[in-house]
Amino acid sequence: MSRFIGVLALLFLFHVFDSIESFSGFSDQGSLLVRNISEMPQKNSGRGGLSHITIAGSVLHGMKEVEVWLQTFAPGTRTPIHRHSCEEVFVVLRGMGTVLLGSSSHKYPGQPQEFPIYSNSTFSVPVNEPHQVWNKDEHEDLQMLVVISRPPVKVFIYDDWSMPHTAAKLRFPYYWDLEFLHQQKDEL
Ligand SMILES: *[C@@H]1O[C@H](CO)[C@@H](O)[C@H](O)[C@H]1NC(C)=O
Ligand SMILES: *[C@@H]1O[C@H](CO)[C@@H](O)[C@H](O)[C@H]1NC(C)=O
Repeated sequence: MSRFIGVLALLFLFHVFDSIESFSGFSDQGSLLVRNISEMPQKNSGRGGLSHITIAGSVLHGMKEVEVWLQTFAPGTRTPIHRHSCEEVFVVLRGMGTVLLGSSSHKYPGQPQEFPIYSNSTFSVPVNEPHQVWNKDEHEDLQMLVVISRPPVKVFIYDDWSMPHTAAKLRFPYYWDLEFLHQQKDEL
């Protein structure tokens, strides 16, 4: 099992580094930009208990097809209830939590289904399904590698599970993309 995850992770990293090569400004064939994740900018974007690192991003690095985040949720913290039209794959690196999944086929998300997630598990959120990721543990962080398609992400946020889909509020650019846009302007 862990070997399988290892192989998947390697395949995935090859794909990411392949793409990094093309956006890093090194157009020469055979060059590769290796970056230390510990030194990449971390944001919480106003969400207490969240650490977000855009490992390979659309706004930040010019990625076109996929974007990769490393997110850490402190005990008790959660995402807003939200949906997006991109694909999203999670790999849980450590900790445990719960994913709540509503429905896109009624007027509003409705009573969500609950799915436990745990270290070394992976899951994909169906396109346009309202969902919420929650670290319900009282002691341990929940850390996940997240891959989305079609970046930059456009997020629709719900106040609660009975809010109609049409009333969910669009956040675009999303918080961390907005901060990076500002940051880039500040650097000019
Ligand atoms: C997750 O996988 C790693 C690597 O195989 C292993 O060391 C670790 O014990 C696993 N964690 C859990 C909670 O199973
Ligand atoms: C990566 O960055 C961290 C934090 O600055 C540092 O402690 C570590 O030595 C770096 N790793 C390498 C291989 O340079």
